[in-house]
Amino acid sequence: MPAISATAPGKVILFGEHAVVYGFPAIAVPVTQVKAKAIVQANPFGKTGQVNIDAPDIDLHTCLSDLPDDHPFAVLFSNLMDLMGVKAMPACRVRITSSIPVAAGMGSGAAVSVGLARALSAFLGHPLSNDQVSDLAFQVEKKYHGTPSGIDNTVITFSQPVYYVRGQPFERLKLADPFTLVIADSGIQSQTSRVVGDIRQAWQSDPQRYEKLFDQIGQISTQARGLIEKGRLQELGSLMNANHRVLKKLGVSCLELDRLVEAAVNSGALGAKLSGAGRGGNMIALVQPEDVDHTTEALQTAGATRLITTRIAPVLNLDL
Ligand code: MEV
Repeated sequence: MPAISATAPGKVILFGEHAVVYGFPAIAVPVTQVKAKAIVQANPFGKTGQVNIDAPDIDLHTCLSDLPDDHPFAVLFSNLMDLMGVKAMPACRVRITSSIPVAAGMGSGAAVSVGLARALSAFLGHPLSNDQVSDLAFQVEKKYHGTPSGIDNTVITFSQPVYYVRGQPFERLKLADPFTLVIADSGIQSQTSRVVGDIRQAWQSDPQRYEKLFDQIGQISTQARGLIEKGRLQELGSLMNANHRVLKKLGVSCLELDRLVEAAVNSGALGAKLSGAGRGGNMIALVQPEDVDHTTEALQTAGATRLITTRIAPVLNLDL
């Protein structure tokens, strides 16, 4: 039996991180230049139930049965087998690789779950639907991250720009025109679960202040959606700057991210903001295609450790 492989892209949040956890809208887009990949191959020499896992990027070489029950891979396998009514896995080898930066706000964990769910279900003979795959990835995120909004698994599974409100079916964004983003890594790793947990505590101790900030972010996301659908990029850039200012008030930026955002805006970007949980990880800048080189150079000078340029284009096939 040939090996079965599946991939899933990374993502960035354009607008609405953190507020989305509290029910306010957010916008996210896939980043296809980076991806997670899972390959599953039958092992004719193994015993039923024997699953060898090889994940060289995180230096993990183990058997499924040796992983702790709460390890993300173990959670994914167990939920997937329950869903598919599989009592024991056929002996197989699983290889997981990823070019998505870890702890950088680009959805590396969710992308691994999505790739793995797709490859395993195909290997078991019944490829799951996108809704099922997204839900499995969400279950892992919940176990691992506490209170995820669900936006990461959604945008990564469906690999389309999404307008997302927690607990509601997501909406596909209809872009009037393509636009270009430069994504710059601050080089600082940041655990989403920790930042989201801190914000939760802060919200609990001063709900009024935080709900006001979440509401401001929600309004920015709603306006941004209209601008994306009309192709008004200049104003969209200004909204990114506004979103970054509110994220600073929320306490999730840091000096390095602020420096990158400032450098991008000074270099002529239409707008810039941190993206994801913050306190490290990536920022994004909206740029005119002719300004990509200029902004990239400015970001490098300001300390970016990794740069990705991505073009977000209208999706032609809306029938997924
Ligand atoms: C993480 O990519 C975005 C956050 O809003 C958390 C979440 O939505 O689950 C910070």
